[in-house]
Amino acid sequence: MNQQQTITIRRPDDWHVHLRDGAMMRGVLGYTARQFARAIVMPNLSPPVTDVAAAESYRDSILAALPEASTFRPLMTCYLTDDSDPAEVARGFAAGVFTAAKLYPANATTNSAHGVTAIANIMPVLECMQQIGMPLLVHGEVTDHNVDIFDREAVFIDRIMTKLVRDLPGLKVVFEHITTREAAQFVASSSSNIAATITPQHLQINRNAFLAGGLRPHFYCLPVAKREEHRLALRKAAVSGSPKYFLGTDSAPHPRGAKESSCGCAGIFNAPHALESYATVFDEENALDRLEAFASEHGPRFYGLPLNEGTVTLERAEVQVPEVMAIAGGEIVPYHAGQTIGWRMVG
Ligand code: NCD
Ligand code: ZN
Repeated sequence: MNQQQTITIRRPDDWHVHLRDGAMMRGVLGYTARQFARAIVMPNLSPPVTDVAAAESYRDSILAALPEASTFRPLMTCYLTDDSDPAEVARGFAAGVFTAAKLYPANATTNSAHGVTAIANIMPVLECMQQIGMPLLVHGEVTDHNVDIFDREAVFIDRIMTKLVRDLPGLKVVFEHITTREAAQFVASSSSNIAATITPQHLQINRNAFLAGGLRPHFYCLPVAKREEHRLALRKAAVSGSPKYFLGTDSAPHPRGAKESSCGCAGIFNAPHALESYATVFDEENALDRLEAFASEHGPRFYGLPLNEGTVTLERAEVQVPEVMAIAGGEIVPYHAGQTIGWRMVG
């Protein structure tokens, strides 16, 4: 059988990325802007992006860091706290500053200390978002120390998500970076208002990647990769053609020293070869013909935004990923460091 050598798709978007700020942002932004027309930019800076003024200033700093010719557009998000004001959230959405709002359960992940301690505290905000059609992006893990870390997503579905979507049936919800069969099934069996992003790493690795044969911090992210059966369920969902699943890299750069530490940070820097990673998965699943819908159509349709003009092309080629990258005056170890991947973006 003749192998397909190139694939051209409508220019894609990244519906979940951490661009950071300052020198780190200036160092990593180009990798995302090269591949994607738009990206949903996570608000978990320190301090977090909780109001319209902060989002505008963050957006402007991203735009200022882009090369003149770039048409990349950052889509900003509002970090919800127990004190979030529905009027401020709605004002930002109406002004086109906020595209969505992000729910971090307090202390679930990096820079989430200001997150929400109980859904009841943000009910007025969620009701308002339901009314105005503003999507809620959810980091779906409980933070209860008594719950095993490998169960935190599934328990979140039982304790929080099921009730949330029942109480607010008109609210658009993106279950971010799903990692389990349970989450894929929950999304599949929910209304068309419920969708999910899936990262490259959760399609490609299981928990052995960071735990077997030595502790490998560069494969550690949150939610952590789970057992193989879950990875297989996520691959099935991603290539299924269902409009409920779309591309969101969760690229989350940390300096090498912050990862290789006695208490290493969660986050995988996958931006440099994100599209190539997804292409590898779809190719392996004999579903290259469905990559475009996952990467470029399902996201904008869910968000109610136009599809991008223009295309990107990937070709089958052996690409060596560097062991480390010099970024922002330091080093970052990228996803696939030292490995060869089988696709290259050529235009
Ligand atoms: C993210 C980060 O570093 O900001 N880390 C991660 O492991 N994904 C936070 C997050 O999205 O959970
Ligand atoms: Zn994230």
